Amino acid sequence: KNAGANSTQKTYVVGTEPYFPPFEYAEENNSKNIVGFDVDLINAIAADQGFKVQWKDLEFDALIPALQSGQIDMIASGMTITEERENAVDFTEPYINAGLALAVAVSNEEIKGVDDLKGKVAAVQQGSTGSHEAEKLKAEGKIGDIIYLAHVNDIILNIQNERADFTINDLPVTQAFMSQNPGVIKIVDDELTSDSYGFAVKSGNTELLTMLNQGLENVKQDGTYDQIMTKYF
Ligand code: ARG
Repeated sequence: KNAGANSTQKTYVVGTEPYFPPFEYAEENNSKNIVGFDVDLINAIAADQGFKVQWKDLEFDALIPALQSGQIDMIASGMTITEERENAVDFTEPYINAGLALAVAVSNEEIKGVDDLKGKVAAVQQGSTGSHEAEKLKAEGKIGDIIYLAHVNDIILNIQNERADFTINDLPVTQAFMSQNPGVIKIVDDELTSDSYGFAVKSGNTELLTMLNQGLENVKQDGTYDQIMTKYF
């Protein structure tokens, strides 16, 4: 474990798309202050490993390009570890499980599962694993059109005003939305996938990757991880 904060500490820029509660979101409307599970976890790891962080807001599909171009040093954005992304970035050890769930308007009595989606319109976050799953189902002829949106709240709006019939998004994010906003959407069917999130660094940045993995292990062992879990879930 490294010593506490001092002026010689290095600052790393962390990229995130901060409209994704409970993982990263503004504390209040109009607040620039980002909070959430990922934010607390990265801050705890940074304190443990003796580095500072500076948060940078980006659209979700801009995060990997920003990492590759050196605009940011790491991604902490509820990002699912996938084989495809492993080719572009290096992921830490998984830090939480989060599969995909299918959700529809609460009033929707027609869609009870993936088998009821033929011709139905999906609203998904651009570049997300939910969008990749929708694309797979579309290629198999199992769903209709796909509407791509930048943020999760736009997905909900499209379901509310019936431009879209369903979404495929991360289960914990959908559950958090449902408990904050009861009576809008509901989850149907079982979890579609079982996935995990990882923090990402530029391919080959083993120095930072090692610190993140070591810090993650330490905050799991000292109870900080469990505290953050209890705070947000
Ligand atoms: N877990 C999904 C993915 O990796 C969605 C993540 C979206 N994150 C965000 N902060 N908007 O594609």
